[in-house]
Amino acid sequence: MLATLALAPHALLSQPLAVGRHAVPGQTRSAVLMAERTPLIAGNWKMNTDLASAVELAKAVADASAKATDVDVAVCVPAPFLIPVKEAIKDSKVGVGAQDCYFEDAGAYTGEISTSMLKSVGTDYVVTGHSERRAIFGDDDEAVNKKTLKVLAEGLKAILCIGELKEERESGETFNVCDTQLTKGLAGVSAEQMADVVIAYEPVWAIGTGLTATPAMAQETHAYIRSWFVDNYSQEVADKVVIQYGGSVKADNVDELMACPDIDGALVGGASLQADGFSRIINFEK
Ligand code: 13P
Repeated sequence: MLATLALAPHALLSQPLAVGRHAVPGQTRSAVLMAERTPLIAGNWKMNTDLASAVELAKAVADASAKATDVDVAVCVPAPFLIPVKEAIKDSKVGVGAQDCYFEDAGAYTGEISTSMLKSVGTDYVVTGHSERRAIFGDDDEAVNKKTLKVLAEGLKAILCIGELKEERESGETFNVCDTQLTKGLAGVSAEQMADVVIAYEPVWAIGTGLTATPAMAQETHAYIRSWFVDNYSQEVADKVVIQYGGSVKADNVDELMACPDIDGALVGGASLQADGFSRIINFEK
């Protein structure tokens, strides 16, 4: 059991969660389901790069994506670089994403960026509910929900991030946290709109720490999340929803993570800033 709060971080990684009423499916991904879900590998550059390095990195990602088949690729870049990055990737399959937005249409909201602004510069994806927005900038589930609804109403795709804190995992709350964040974050999102929603499961303790969930741990939570969609939407929505894993994904662990049946891609922070490493991640072993 993970109730042992004194577990060292490395011990955390070897302890599977107690599985509740949702059985973890086997390790084989059915051909039908694979065909229904195209994995999405997205880089989250966070507050990094400048104009020159952003354009250079975007071009490298565009080049690397040319040989990557059966995978969607995106880069979620700092807002000032949306336009030049869009230009740099224009002849490639790479999509461009923003890292956040505000839910109001327009007005006196100094510093904020609306979804219509993002759309007008060609943004494809908007990240909502990233744990850094939640922890540092106070985005609660209600705000995350409003942002997600606004992104979808604008006709953009939302990458909704969820995930538990270290102490929540240690006290066995992982599935409850995911349930709450999904229930509140997706309130009012229809089954049709779910076609434009990607879920990013990012255990907070694995972000930027070098601690990666083992494939078994990640798969277990991804299977729970997919079962949540069966219970709260439908089997069809559950079969189609793309669920990314995020948290210290790197060139040397992407293959084993992507081999898990319910892991449909990755949201990559630090390793997305290095062209070589990210190229390898995009071109994970099939
Ligand atoms: P790292 O890959 O740096 O752990 O960051 C993950 C993340 O937060 C992606 O959104």
